[in-house]
Amino acid sequence: MEKKKILILNGPNLNLLGRREPGIYGTGTMDGCLEALRRRYPDVEIDYYQSNAEGSLIDRLQAAATDGTDGVAFNAGAYTHTSVALLDAIRSVPVPVVEVHISNVHSREAFRRQSMIAPACVGVVCGFGLDSYRLAVEGLLCAAAGRD
Ligand code: DQA
Repeated sequence: MEKKKILILNGPNLNLLGRREPGIYGTGTMDGCLEALRRRYPDVEIDYYQSNAEGSLIDRLQAAATDGTDGVAFNAGAYTHTSVALLDAIRSVPVPVVEVHISNVHSREAFRRQSMIAPACVGVVCGFGLDSYRLAVEGLLCAAAGRD
């Protein structure tokens, strides 16, 4: 069986994980999170891309449609709450996307309860710290197994 390929896609300010508002996002780094994921899923190719720019996130999503990616765990950061362009991009690719948040966006400011992208996603994981990424990968692998 061919190795599954999952893309972890992070949006704005998520390059600062570990240093950014640690009371909300914790002190763990994305490097540590990726290392743990790759250790836990040795048979899965875990790719990673982060950008602070909306257009670059769209370009990476579009690339995922043709590079053999089986699923995307996408933390769009603040763009989650504002971006019609990302909603359209997710709808434009045939790859399943899970919306991810480290914090529980429903227990914070009211504007974080709205997601522009959720309607185009296969599921949403939020509130489990960096474990949210692992739970999203797990969901994507279950969905992919169901398609095989
Ligand atoms: C976030 C939640 C968003 O509301 C916020 O803008 C982020 C991070 C999270 O992972 O909890 O940048 O997506």
